[in-house]
Amino acid sequence: MQIAFIGGGVMGTAMIKGLLARKLVSPDAIIASDISPARLEALGRDYAIRTTSDNKHALEGREIVVLAIKPQSLGQVMAELKGHLGPEQLALSIVAGADLARLSRGLAHNGVVRVMPNMPAQIGEGMSLWTATSQVSQKKKEAVGSILGALGKEIYVTDERYLDMATAVSGSGPAYIFLIIESLIDAAVHIGLPRDIAGELVLQTVLGAARFAQDTGKHPAELRNLVTSPGGTTAEGLLQLEEGGLRAILAQAVFAAHNKAEELRGANGK
Ligand SMILES: NC(=O)c1ccc[n+]([C@@H]2O[C@H](COP(=O)([O-])OP(=O)(O)OC[C@H]3O[C@@H](n4cnc5c(N)ncnc54)[C@H](OP(=O)(O)O)[C@@H]3O)[C@@H](O)[C@H]2O)c1
Repeated sequence: MQIAFIGGGVMGTAMIKGLLARKLVSPDAIIASDISPARLEALGRDYAIRTTSDNKHALEGREIVVLAIKPQSLGQVMAELKGHLGPEQLALSIVAGADLARLSRGLAHNGVVRVMPNMPAQIGEGMSLWTATSQVSQKKKEAVGSILGALGKEIYVTDERYLDMATAVSGSGPAYIFLIIESLIDAAVHIGLPRDIAGELVLQTVLGAARFAQDTGKHPAELRNLVTSPGGTTAEGLLQLEEGGLRAILAQAVFAAHNKAEELRGANGK
């Protein structure tokens, strides 16, 4: 599988790193194009892949062309690549807010995949939700599944509306969790724990709770009941979280982020 990356920044590099680490492709099957000479030099040096500053040149002979530029660069890049993708080539975009219709129109190309990845992709623990135009074959979808699998977990959906929803949940989600982690660490310090110990306690608790929920597959309420003894400390803490409206505030955060994702897509799509 020959892959081109247009944009070798944070996410492009994370994908390249994941693909190579899982030996899905060899370095000579990857070419990265970027406007930053420093980025290209680092990519060539760190991953032994080919690099170019010419986006059109990067497409030549590639089965999959990954668009990993920022939303504000997309218009320019699509104008440059428009009409240069052959019928057998697949464009895979991770650009937030760019829907399939805009990508197909902008590239004048039918075979397009749209992905919403998230930040832990950088360490192979990402969550990607993706969809594709009807022209993308089953074989190509399987190839996309294995590329995204190199970044963590992946889910294919046919309903593109789920992409904006995932943006608000798994895309923005790491930031919500970081805020919760930060707040818990500060609270632990407030009651007297040294900051380094507080950090370790909180991070391992978040990680352990998520892994436990994943491994057991049990409903979160059931797991919560398991650690809530009658009349105990956890019950006291949970009561405060309920009184403070934790559920409602998390719901509001997701609703607001979803509205914003739809609004931005509308604005970007024009
Ligand atoms: N980072 C995340 O956690 C995350 C999560 C979900 C989705 N995404 C999506 O992933 C995409 C990439 O994000 P990122 O964080 O990887 O951005 P990034 O680090 O800024 O990477 C984009 C790269 O593209 C380069 N570039 C800009 N214009 C270009 C052009 N015309 N031709 C070729 N290369 C060009 C940039 O160079 P300069 O820096 O010199 O401009 C930069 O090296 C975004 O659309 C974002 O919505 C990111």
